[in-house]
Amino acid sequence: MTRIAVIPGDGIGVDVTRETVKTLAGLAEARGWKLEMEEFPYSADHYLKTGETLPQEGFERLQTFDAIFLGALGDPRVPDMKHASDILLGLRFRLDLFVNERPVRLIDQRLCPLRDRRPEDVNFTILRENTEGLYAGVGGFFKKGTPYEVAIQQDINTRRGVERICRHAFEFARSHGLCRVLMSDKSNALTYGHDLWQRTFREIAGEYDDIESSHMYVDALAMQLIKDPTPYEVIVTCNMFGDILSDLGAQLQGGLGLAASANLHPGRTGLFEPVHGSAPKYAGTDTANPMGAILSAAMMLANVDRRADAQLLEQAVVECVREMRCTRDLGGPLGTRETGDAVRDRVMELAGRQR
Ligand code: NAD
Ligand code: IPM
Ligand code: MN
Repeated sequence: MTRIAVIPGDGIGVDVTRETVKTLAGLAEARGWKLEMEEFPYSADHYLKTGETLPQEGFERLQTFDAIFLGALGDPRVPDMKHASDILLGLRFRLDLFVNERPVRLIDQRLCPLRDRRPEDVNFTILRENTEGLYAGVGGFFKKGTPYEVAIQQDINTRRGVERICRHAFEFARSHGLCRVLMSDKSNALTYGHDLWQRTFREIAGEYDDIESSHMYVDALAMQLIKDPTPYEVIVTCNMFGDILSDLGAQLQGGLGLAASANLHPGRTGLFEPVHGSAPKYAGTDTANPMGAILSAAMMLANVDRRADAQLLEQAVVECVREMRCTRDLGGPLGTRETGDAVRDRVMELAGRQR
């Protein structure tokens, strides 16, 4: 039995989660395993109605599941993102999910905005440090609301935090049969925090002589990824740069509608979510692409040792995209629900053929 906690969240998070749940249920049924999914209401609506973001009791229950799936959070009625900060960042930090794995994989040549790029040319993974950096929430206001206001946001980089994500990058490369890890920082300007990244990365790289290590400043890397994304295999970087580079990477594979992610601490309950946000403008319009969410669910299945199921799910998405059974962001004619139906039907068909 596999137990998944589901937090649809806000906006299109709700739309894409519905399709993901439907697809997972179809897959488990066709493959004959037992899947239990329990929905949690944590969202802007819930916060505005009850004042509750992520209650302690809910936080404790979430950890008892094999995995947590999240749609997206963000609502214009909560401009300070208080609920998202407690729920999304809260889960990342409090579960100590220090790896944010964000694959960039072109599944159909026609989706790449770069000229003449084939799927094998765009295939790398961003490993974003997920528990510190500028996201640590250390700082404050001084003289807030006056002309003399000071706002401080500290960039926290710990030796232990940097070391574990760098080591994870090399282990990730090894276990995936890859031979290159690139660390990206801004150590030419951020001379303390990113000096620590430099020293730590070099030291860890020394433990892995089978893997080639290199470094690039993040501004140059942003340019190179557009000029020629082919040489990259594994990119390890800090929380903030990983956030920005992963939206850039999303577009290289066809847009945010397709981008998947996993928040991990090996051996613990992980959190799986598409890279995109709640796109409030499109909420409930049946236009959002559910494939990024479904591919995140595939990462989730792989993580709970259902690799064959994960592969089937990926294959179903790839086939639907290639046959143009997809939403408008990918040039297809379908709505969110029809796309979910297409992927669900295909994965059930693929599973049936295997039996
Ligand atoms: P967004 O990712 O929600 O949307 C940006 C644009 O990307 C959309 O206007 C749309 O054109 C496209 N897009 C995104 N997802 C798509 C999908 N599934 N199908 C088709 N097109 C899609 O980013 P934003 O507009 O900057 O943020 C909206 C809200 O979401 C904000 O409150 C933001 O803070 C939040 N957010 C949350 C998460 C998360 O929960 N993980 C991630 C990013 C942003
Ligand atoms: C993401 C999002 C979040 C982040 C926001 C919503 C806090 O952009 O998951 O990429 O910056 O990590
Ligand atoms: Mn982001």
